[in-house]
Amino acid sequence: DRSIKIAPSILSADFANFGQEIEAIEAQGCDWVHVDVMDGHFVPNLTFGPPLCKAIRKHIKTVMDVHLMIAPVDPYLEAFAEAGADVITLHLEAGAHTHRSLQAVRDLEKKAGLALNPGTPVEAALPLLDLCDLICIMTVNPGFGGQKFIHSQIDQIRRLRALIGDRPIHIEVDGGVDPSTAPLVAEAGADVLVAGSAVFRNGSVDQPSVYGANIQAL
Ligand code: DX5
Ligand code: ZN
Repeated sequence: DRSIKIAPSILSADFANFGQEIEAIEAQGCDWVHVDVMDGHFVPNLTFGPPLCKAIRKHIKTVMDVHLMIAPVDPYLEAFAEAGADVITLHLEAGAHTHRSLQAVRDLEKKAGLALNPGTPVEAALPLLDLCDLICIMTVNPGFGGQKFIHSQIDQIRRLRALIGDRPIHIEVDGGVDPSTAPLVAEAGADVLVAGSAVFRNGSVDQPSVYGANIQAL
Protein backbone atom coordinates (compact mmCIF):
# COMPACT_ATOMS: atom_id res chain seq x y z
CA ASP A 1 0.00 0.00 0.00
CA ARG A 2 1.79 3.08 -1.32
CA SER A 3 -0.73 5.65 -0.04
CA ILE A 4 0.87 8.39 2.06
CA LYS A 5 0.93 7.64 5.78
CA ILE A 6 1.56 10.23 8.50
CA ALA A 7 3.51 8.99 11.52
CA PRO A 8 3.67 11.54 14.34
CA SER A 9 6.85 11.32 16.41
CA ILE A 10 5.84 11.28 20.06
CA LEU A 11 9.18 12.89 20.88
CA SER A 12 7.32 16.18 20.42
CA ALA A 13 4.36 15.21 22.64
CA ASP A 14 3.75 16.59 26.13
CA PHE A 15 5.34 13.84 28.24
CA ALA A 16 3.32 14.86 31.30
CA ASN A 17 0.11 13.94 29.42
CA PHE A 18 1.41 11.03 27.42
CA GLY A 19 -1.62 8.72 27.37
CA GLN A 20 -3.96 11.52 26.34
CA GLU A 21 -1.50 12.79 23.75
CA ILE A 22 -1.24 9.49 21.88
CA GLU A 23 -4.99 8.91 22.11
CA ALA A 24 -5.50 12.42 20.70
CA ILE A 25 -3.24 11.91 17.66
CA GLU A 26 -4.89 8.55 16.95
CA ALA A 27 -8.36 10.09 17.22
CA GLN A 28 -7.22 12.95 14.95
CA GLY A 29 -6.38 10.56 12.15
CA CYS A 30 -2.69 9.70 12.23
CA ASP A 31 -1.77 6.49 10.37
CA TRP A 32 1.17 5.22 12.45
CA VAL A 33 2.74 6.28 15.74
CA HIS A 34 6.55 6.77 15.61
CA VAL A 35 8.56 6.10 18.78
CA ASP A 36 12.14 7.47 18.89
CA VAL A 37 14.39 5.35 21.09
CA MET A 38 17.75 7.00 21.86
CA ASP A 39 20.63 5.68 23.95
CA GLY A 40 22.99 8.63 24.59
CA HIS A 41 25.68 6.68 22.72
CA PHE A 42 24.65 6.10 19.11
CA VAL A 43 22.96 9.52 19.28
CA PRO A 44 23.64 12.35 21.76
CA ASN A 45 20.27 12.17 23.52
CA LEU A 46 18.31 9.84 25.80
CA THR A 47 14.63 8.97 25.51
CA PHE A 48 12.74 5.80 26.33
CA GLY A 49 12.75 2.03 26.11
CA PRO A 50 10.50 -1.05 25.98
CA PRO A 51 8.36 -0.21 29.06
CA LEU A 52 7.10 2.97 27.44
CA CYS A 53 6.33 1.08 24.20
CA LYS A 54 4.36 -1.44 26.21
CA ALA A 55 2.38 1.34 27.91
CA ILE A 56 1.63 3.00 24.55
CA ARG A 57 0.48 -0.31 23.08
CA LYS A 58 -2.38 -0.46 25.60
CA HIS A 59 -3.68 2.97 24.56
CA ILE A 60 -3.77 2.72 20.76
CA LYS A 61 -4.61 0.34 17.90
CA THR A 62 -2.48 2.18 15.35
CA VAL A 63 0.74 0.69 13.94
CA MET A 64 3.57 1.28 16.41
CA ASP A 65 6.70 2.20 14.46
CA VAL A 66 9.75 1.95 16.72
CA HIS A 67 12.90 3.77 15.54
CA LEU A 68 15.92 2.41 17.40
CA MET A 69 18.80 4.87 17.58
CA ILE A 70 20.82 2.56 19.78
CA ALA A 71 24.03 0.53 19.56
CA PRO A 72 24.29 -2.33 20.05
CA VAL A 73 20.78 -3.16 18.90
CA ASP A 74 20.66 -6.97 18.96
CA PRO A 75 20.31 -7.42 22.75
CA TYR A 76 17.11 -5.31 22.76
CA LEU A 77 15.17 -6.54 19.73
CA GLU A 78 13.20 -9.17 21.60
CA ALA A 79 12.17 -6.71 24.32
CA PHE A 80 10.79 -4.25 21.75
CA ALA A 81 8.97 -7.06 19.95
CA GLU A 82 7.41 -8.18 23.24
CA ALA A 83 6.48 -4.57 24.03
CA GLY A 84 4.21 -4.62 20.97
CA ALA A 85 6.20 -2.87 18.23
CA ASP A 86 4.82 -3.56 14.74
CA VAL A 87 7.77 -2.11 12.84
CA ILE A 88 11.28 -2.24 14.32
CA THR A 89 13.76 0.02 12.53
CA LEU A 90 17.47 -0.12 13.21
CA HIS A 91 20.38 1.89 11.80
CA LEU A 92 22.85 0.61 9.23
CA GLU A 93 25.51 2.64 11.08
CA ALA A 94 24.76 1.04 14.47
CA GLY A 95 26.75 -2.13 14.07
CA ALA A 96 28.78 -4.44 11.90
CA HIS A 97 26.05 -7.05 11.48
CA THR A 98 23.00 -5.27 10.09
CA HIS A 99 22.07 -8.27 7.95
CA ARG A 100 21.90 -10.45 11.06
CA SER A 101 19.92 -7.80 12.98
CA LEU A 102 17.30 -7.42 10.23
CA GLN A 103 16.95 -11.18 10.03
CA ALA A 104 16.46 -11.26 13.82
CA VAL A 105 13.58 -8.77 13.52
CA ARG A 106 11.99 -10.95 10.82
CA ASP A 107 12.46 -14.02 13.04
CA LEU A 108 10.50 -12.18 15.76
CA GLU A 109 7.71 -11.82 13.15
CA LYS A 110 7.90 -8.04 13.06
CA LYS A 111 8.29 -5.73 10.09
CA ALA A 112 11.97 -4.91 9.65
CA GLY A 113 13.09 -1.35 8.99
CA LEU A 114 16.52 -0.06 8.04
CA ALA A 115 17.41 3.58 8.80
CA LEU A 116 20.15 5.48 6.96
CA ASN A 117 21.85 8.60 8.31
CA PRO A 118 22.28 11.56 5.94
CA GLY A 119 25.95 10.64 5.41
CA THR A 120 25.19 7.12 4.20
CA PRO A 121 24.63 6.52 0.48
CA VAL A 122 21.36 4.68 -0.19
CA GLU A 123 23.26 2.24 -2.41
CA ALA A 124 24.63 0.72 0.83
CA ALA A 125 21.15 -0.74 1.42
CA LEU A 126 21.21 -2.74 -1.82
CA PRO A 127 22.44 -6.07 -0.36
CA LEU A 128 19.86 -5.78 2.44
CA LEU A 129 16.72 -4.94 0.46
CA ASP A 130 15.26 -8.44 0.60
CA LEU A 131 15.35 -8.30 4.41
CA CYS A 132 13.63 -4.89 4.61
CA ASP A 133 9.96 -4.00 4.87
CA LEU A 134 10.83 -0.31 5.27
CA ILE A 135 13.79 1.96 4.67
CA CYS A 136 13.95 5.18 6.67
CA ILE A 137 15.84 8.05 5.09
CA MET A 138 16.96 10.48 7.78
CA THR A 139 16.53 14.05 6.62
CA VAL A 140 18.24 15.36 9.78
CA ASN A 141 21.11 13.95 11.81
CA PRO A 142 19.28 11.81 14.38
CA GLY A 143 19.08 12.82 18.02
CA PHE A 144 16.65 15.71 18.31
CA GLY A 145 13.29 16.92 17.09
CA GLY A 146 12.84 20.31 15.47
CA GLN A 147 15.95 20.32 13.26
CA LYS A 148 16.28 21.74 9.77
CA PHE A 149 15.46 19.48 6.81
CA ILE A 150 18.54 18.44 4.77
CA HIS A 151 17.46 19.06 1.18
CA SER A 152 20.24 17.01 -0.42
CA GLN A 153 18.44 13.89 0.85
CA ILE A 154 15.71 14.36 -1.76
CA ASP A 155 18.05 12.98 -4.41
CA GLN A 156 18.80 9.99 -2.15
CA ILE A 157 15.05 9.25 -1.79
CA ARG A 158 14.73 9.32 -5.57
CA ARG A 159 17.69 6.96 -6.01
CA LEU A 160 16.32 4.61 -3.33
CA ARG A 161 12.92 4.50 -5.04
CA ALA A 162 14.68 3.39 -8.23
CA LEU A 163 16.78 0.77 -6.37
CA ILE A 164 13.70 -0.71 -4.69
CA GLY A 165 11.91 -1.26 -7.99
CA ASP A 166 8.73 -3.23 -7.42
CA ARG A 167 9.71 -4.73 -4.06
CA PRO A 168 7.04 -4.10 -1.37
CA ILE A 169 9.22 -1.76 0.74
CA HIS A 170 8.01 1.45 2.37
CA ILE A 171 10.20 4.53 2.10
CA GLU A 172 9.93 6.51 5.32
CA VAL A 173 11.33 10.00 5.77
CA ASP A 174 12.25 11.28 9.21
CA GLY A 175 13.31 14.78 10.23
CA GLY A 176 12.15 18.28 9.39
CA VAL A 177 9.03 17.10 7.56
CA ASP A 178 6.47 19.92 7.45
CA PRO A 179 3.90 21.18 4.92
CA SER A 180 6.69 22.74 2.82
CA THR A 181 8.95 19.65 2.66
CA ALA A 182 6.25 16.90 2.66
CA PRO A 183 5.35 17.36 -1.03
CA LEU A 184 9.05 17.17 -1.99
CA VAL A 185 9.62 13.82 -0.24
CA ALA A 186 6.33 12.37 -1.48
CA GLU A 187 7.14 13.38 -5.04
CA ALA A 188 10.60 11.77 -4.70
CA GLY A 189 8.96 8.48 -3.69
CA ALA A 190 8.47 8.42 0.09
CA ASP A 191 5.20 7.02 1.46
CA VAL A 192 5.62 7.19 5.27
CA LEU A 193 6.16 10.70 6.61
CA VAL A 194 7.39 11.04 10.19
CA ALA A 195 6.71 14.42 11.75
CA GLY A 196 7.21 15.59 15.32
CA SER A 197 7.08 19.35 15.60
CA ALA A 198 4.85 19.78 12.54
CA VAL A 199 2.14 17.57 14.12
CA PHE A 200 2.33 18.73 17.74
CA ARG A 201 2.93 22.46 17.25
CA ASN A 202 0.27 24.80 18.64
CA GLY A 203 -1.88 21.88 19.87
CA SER A 204 -2.48 20.28 23.25
CA VAL A 205 -4.73 17.64 24.80
CA ASP A 206 -7.22 20.48 25.39
CA GLN A 207 -6.97 21.54 21.73
CA PRO A 208 -6.66 18.18 19.93
CA SER A 209 -8.28 19.44 16.72
CA VAL A 210 -5.06 21.39 16.08
CA TYR A 211 -3.32 18.01 15.72
CA GLY A 212 -5.96 16.97 13.18
CA ALA A 213 -5.43 20.18 11.20
CA ASN A 214 -1.64 19.73 11.32
CA ILE A 215 -1.96 16.14 10.05
CA GLN A 216 -4.31 17.32 7.29
CA ALA A 217 -1.85 20.06 6.32
CA LEU A 218 0.85 17.43 5.80
C1 DX5 B 1 15.20 12.51 15.10
C2 DX5 B 1 14.01 11.62 15.24
C3 DX5 B 1 12.80 12.16 14.59
C4 DX5 B 1 12.37 13.49 15.13
C5 DX5 B 1 11.51 14.18 14.13
O1 DX5 B 1 16.30 11.91 15.68
O2 DX5 B 1 14.27 10.34 14.68
O3 DX5 B 1 11.74 11.23 14.57
O4 DX5 B 1 11.74 13.42 16.35
O5 DX5 B 1 11.19 15.43 14.63
P1 DX5 B 1 10.83 16.67 13.69
O6 DX5 B 1 9.67 16.27 12.85
O7 DX5 B 1 10.49 17.74 14.67
O8 DX5 B 1 12.05 16.96 12.86
ZN1 ZN C 1 12.57 8.87 14.28
